[in-house]
Amino acid sequence: MQRSGFDRLTDQVVERFGDTPDPRLREIMSSLVRHLHGFIREVGLTEAEWMQGIEFLTAVGQKCDARRQEFILLSDVLGASMQMVSVQSGNPAGCTESTVFGPFHVEGAPHYADGGDVGNGASGTACRVRGRVCGPDGEAVPGAIVDVWQSDDDGLYDVQRPELDRAQGRGVLTSGPDGGFWFRTVVPEPYPIPTDGPVGRLLQATRRSAWRPAHLHFRIRADGYRTLITHVFRRDDPHLGTDPVFGVRPSLIADWPPAADGITQLSFDFVLARVHDSGSKES
Ligand code: BEZ
Ligand code: FE
Repeated sequence: MQRSGFDRLTDQVVERFGDTPDPRLREIMSSLVRHLHGFIREVGLTEAEWMQGIEFLTAVGQKCDARRQEFILLSDVLGASMQMVSVQSGNPAGCTESTVFGPFHVEGAPHYADGGDVGNGASGTACRVRGRVCGPDGEAVPGAIVDVWQSDDDGLYDVQRPELDRAQGRGVLTSGPDGGFWFRTVVPEPYPIPTDGPVGRLLQATRRSAWRPAHLHFRIRADGYRTLITHVFRRDDPHLGTDPVFGVRPSLIADWPPAADGITQLSFDFVLARVHDSGSKES
């Protein structure tokens, strides 16, 4: 059957990228065009809807500045950031799963010795966190650099409090000879992702929750092992099933029970993948 000019449009656009010298750029642009055209055809997009989309993306760009990245937030709520984690991390089975990095990490946070108060004045219920860093065969990983960061009981990170002149709820520890580390802090609480921009309006229009379940962020680096970026969540959190950025993995949900002295305590083992182990991809 003879195909109309419009039927050939997608192929024509893809062919127009055919001379791209960089093969990877050619592959990415060709696939992007095919998916974009397919999406427009599938939903039968109207002119008004197309214009609304253009205006939405314009507003996303206009919301960005040195402190705010609305495009990353858009990627987060569309699940694209988590899809990137899934495609890129590919940790072997048995290793701790990765999740989104988020916008609140700060390089150069203060260093703490074991038992240090990472909360450093953050408001909330006192707790202790005990971790152990090990490799895929259970071997201890001493000397791992453990970055932690978290919100306080108002659901705010220290960087969201312009009046603060010091780090609160963030710090760097080093694992000991047995791979262990521990610190004092406050129990993290759920918080909404920023809703004062176009991404917030999208969540509202689609009746989606903006509330991230409570979590503690970790970035763990050690020679010979892949850097692990992850969170540990609280099992009692009502928002686990509706995380707006799709960062929850069942293996990252933990109990935070009271210890013998009544203080809430998280104990969690982090299993790092070796640099050269490929393993199965996370789904
Ligand atoms: C976070 O966990 O800090 C976060 C992740 C994605 C979007 C907003 C916040
Ligand atoms: Fe967070």
